Amino acid sequence: MDRFTDKTALVTGSSRGIGRATALRLAGEGALVAVHYTENAEAAEDTVARIEKDGGRAFAVQAELGAAGGAHALFLGLEEGLKERTGTTDLHILVNNAGIMGGVAPEDLTAEAFDRIMAVNAKAPYFLIQRAVRNMPDGGRVINISSGLTRFANPQEIAYAMSKGAVEQLALHFAKHLAPRGITVNSVAPGITRNGNPLFDIPEAVEQMAAMSAFQRVGEPEDVADVVAFLASDDARWITGAFTDASGGTLLG
Ligand SMILES: NC(=O)c1ccc[n+]([C@@H]2O[C@H](COP(=O)([O-])OP(=O)(O)OC[C@H]3O[C@@H](n4cnc5c(N)ncnc54)[C@H](OP(=O)(O)O)[C@@H]3O)[C@@H](O)[C@H]2O)c1
Repeated sequence: MDRFTDKTALVTGSSRGIGRATALRLAGEGALVAVHYTENAEAAEDTVARIEKDGGRAFAVQAELGAAGGAHALFLGLEEGLKERTGTTDLHILVNNAGIMGGVAPEDLTAEAFDRIMAVNAKAPYFLIQRAVRNMPDGGRVINISSGLTRFANPQEIAYAMSKGAVEQLALHFAKHLAPRGITVNSVAPGITRNGNPLFDIPEAVEQMAAMSAFQRVGEPEDVADVVAFLASDDARWITGAFTDASGGTLLG
């Protein structure tokens, strides 16, 4: 099943974690994927190599999001890569996945750290959507990665949860704005999902985190990537502006 043949996709922050799994999944079903990263070129090249090994197509693009000119720099690299491989700069699927967490007690969060969380997690996706829709043919897809923490309290992550609340607003309002072009905009909210964090190497920590899901395990990046791929596919054409819980039942309480 090649749901994404002749489609192009940009997955921000796809050098690692959920973004990498999403890039692999979209490319595995035929998409040409731009693997975006900020610092970890080796991990991004590894994602590209894995895709190519499986017969897929991908290229890496570097850009620091949250910094001035980040979205512009990303699109320069993206358009060059797309043009070279497809002859056009059409972008069919945008996955706003790159994000940073806080992990600081509410009393200790600095204004600088707050601003950075907002800039990377909320402001960058806004301007990436604004820029991407110029390249997006009718029927395109935007998927923004939110978090279960917009509905599940964690005082160490107030600013992060605020930024993800803002991300969910992108889906609501951009969905209405872009519906005349058949472009859908949706949010996906993962729960605790295994990424490269060393915490996932500590069995006791994993056990505690697993207990938060109704399924008694932590999420795998592929659990979330499959949901993103569904929303990116034609099967999801009738869904827009939605909040999609991909937390393994964490929000059931
Ligand atoms: N993992 C979870 O438990 C969980 C739960 C809920 C929601 N989420 C959300 O899911 C998304 C992916 O999370 P993850 O845990 O898979 O991430 P991750 O493993 O920490 O990877 C983060 C990715 O974002 C990129 N990135 C970070 N800061 C950036 C910046 N300023 N500019 C550009 N790229 C940047 C990183 O690039 P480099 O490799 O170059 O550093 C990397 O590709 C995030 O939005 C996160 O908030 C995750």
